[in-house]
Amino acid sequence: MRLGVTLAAVLAAAAFSLPAAAADPARGAVVAAERCAACHGMDGKSNVAEIPRLAGQQAGFITLQMILFREGIRQVPAMQAPTEKLSDTDVEAVAAYFASLPSAPPEDSTPRDAALMARGQAISAARNCGVCHLPNYAGRAQMPRLTHQHEAFLAHTMTEYRDGNRVGIDTQMNGAVQGLSDADIAALAHYLAHQD
Ligand code: HEC
Ligand code: HEC
Repeated sequence: MRLGVTLAAVLAAAAFSLPAAAADPARGAVVAAERCAACHGMDGKSNVAEIPRLAGQQAGFITLQMILFREGIRQVPAMQAPTEKLSDTDVEAVAAYFASLPSAPPEDSTPRDAALMARGQAISAARNCGVCHLPNYAGRAQMPRLTHQHEAFLAHTMTEYRDGNRVGIDTQMNGAVQGLSDADIAALAHYLAHQD
């Protein structure tokens, strides 16, 4: 219950501070160099499967996730120090910076597997993934870009939603992946990671 109250307060605060026009990508580049580049890369194109790619990620999504990390709601040890005492203005600036970078497919991309592609596409269609993430999976506002993300990270994070280990801004994603098998998740991750 306490978590629910905290989350509501965080989101109310975030909603107030979200006029994107105020975000300064130049200031964001300074924050990124100091706090993010070592892991995510200055170009936002991490080549480590466990570290998500941020280039071209939606600014609204980055902003909200940074607040969830900073407040200890989405609990990821690696993201504790980078978000500690980071002001809302700097959160929005660094989000604007990474959102402004062009995305590209990861270099560790696995070879395209026709059977996995077909299975992933069928599950995505049945579960309306493209309604929220858009048909090209580039995302919108607080709904993340999935295209050009690491396949292994997509599978890891969907498994966390399914098993209740990732707390997001709401429970929509827990519902979206409910009841999927590990093989279903692997097929979805493969399909999403191989969009152009
Ligand atoms: C010590 C390495 C490290 C540093 C430094 C770091 N991150 Fe991360 N970040 C990670 C890891 C690992 C994850 C994946 C967490 C998970 O498994 O869910 C992550 C996740 C994220 C996510 C969630 C992305 C998604 O697709 O779910 C965002 C946004 C993010 N980081 C932004 C930043 C920003 C902005 C900075 C600098 C202010 C930063 N990170 C600094 C390691 C780091
Ligand atoms: C009702 C809208 C909605 C639907 C339907 C939906 N999503 Fe999402 N998705 C979201 C939102 C919002 C988030 C961010 C939630 C959070 O705060 O963790 C998200 C997050 C994700 C993430 C995490 C990405 C990252 O970088 O951290 C993945 C992967 C994902 N969705 C895949 C899917 C798949 C696959 C489906 C279909 C099975 C799907 N989504 C259906 C809204 C939706």
